[in-house]
Amino acid sequence: MRAGHTVRVVMTHSATRLISPATLAALTGNPVVVDVFDEPEPGQIAHIRLAQDSDLILIAPATAHTIARLALGLADDMLTTIALATRAPILVAPAMNPAMWTHPATQAHVQTLRARGVEFIDPTYGVMACGDEGWGKIADTPVIVQAVQQRLQRTHDLQGVRVLVTAGPTYEPIDPVRFVGNRSSGKMGYAVAEAALAHGAVVRLITGPTALTPPVGAEVVRVQTAQQMFEAVQAAFEACDVFIAAAAVADYRPERPLPTKRKRQSQHWTLRLVANPDILGTVAQHKGNRVVVGFAAETDNILHHAQEKLMRKNLDLIAVNNVLEPESGFEGDTNRLTLIYADGRVVPLPLMSKRDCAEQLLQAVREMLLRKGRLTA
Ligand code: C5P
Repeated sequence: MRAGHTVRVVMTHSATRLISPATLAALTGNPVVVDVFDEPEPGQIAHIRLAQDSDLILIAPATAHTIARLALGLADDMLTTIALATRAPILVAPAMNPAMWTHPATQAHVQTLRARGVEFIDPTYGVMACGDEGWGKIADTPVIVQAVQQRLQRTHDLQGVRVLVTAGPTYEPIDPVRFVGNRSSGKMGYAVAEAALAHGAVVRLITGPTALTPPVGAEVVRVQTAQQMFEAVQAAFEACDVFIAAAAVADYRPERPLPTKRKRQSQHWTLRLVANPDILGTVAQHKGNRVVVGFAAETDNILHHAQEKLMRKNLDLIAVNNVLEPESGFEGDTNRLTLIYADGRVVPLPLMSKRDCAEQLLQAVREMLLRKGRLTA
């Protein structure tokens, strides 16, 4: 309200046990609705009006139960009915016991909702009301307010821009049941695809094997091997404006995959590997005025190696991270990136969620598209 927004409060029945609707009605100057059949304004169907007239819906604090109901599309109270009837962006700030937050059921629901474009203001680490300590404490109020402001300000500033993204690892077969691969989760590439969609881009996501749900609205091409990813990228590169290569492509593959499962037969087994094509390095040689972005996961001499890759692969930007640092790199939800531009600029970013990293990256991409004349403001 202090930022000048009109706030209308919808409460679940459980919420009314903790705080009275009258308090929130007095604070917001608007009626508070709880029941689906509450009709504070005669002649108007409250849940449809609230769903259609809102610029944004913030669910804070969101319980495990409400997150599950949202994921399933249940509409068994006023809040979930509005959430199902709205086209407005939905932001969710979870608050729950750490065991409930990390439970696979809750995490699966979060993933489902993220894929549908719902955004989460992740809980923080702290001591809960029950005395347990862990991840599950609702984000601080200024963080929530900032997320709301940013979401409201975000425009479709990449409307119609065709973004090609690679994500995840590649699996290089040894025999029908074994492969050479790596620990990439695909989270960074999926976050880039998700963010690009939210900015209005047309997204093609070429993904290696991951456990993630692809964002709704992306055109998804699933591949296993580097060779298949190479072919899919070559087929799509011509028609893209931006190529963001977030996949952790295996550099080598077994030279001759076995047609049948290899049995345990000797004390040693030597596997002969042969180099895979450098997907990014190959297509970027003919990039024209497309914007091409690479990632570099390094462990030593980070900036030096990244700069060398940027030049050799003809990139506009490389996002580099130190995979030996905690909370940065493979598998996690956060990353600490440094952006290195072809013009020599080096911009270190603080530790942030992969989704926020994606936002920063897309902002840089947009500036480069404008500079190259591939996008008009
Ligand atoms: O050379 P390096 O593998 O460290 O470069 C990483 C960047 O190159 C990433 O953007 C990755 O997606 C891309 N890459 C590729 N094809 C390969 C190897 C890496 O597109 N065979």
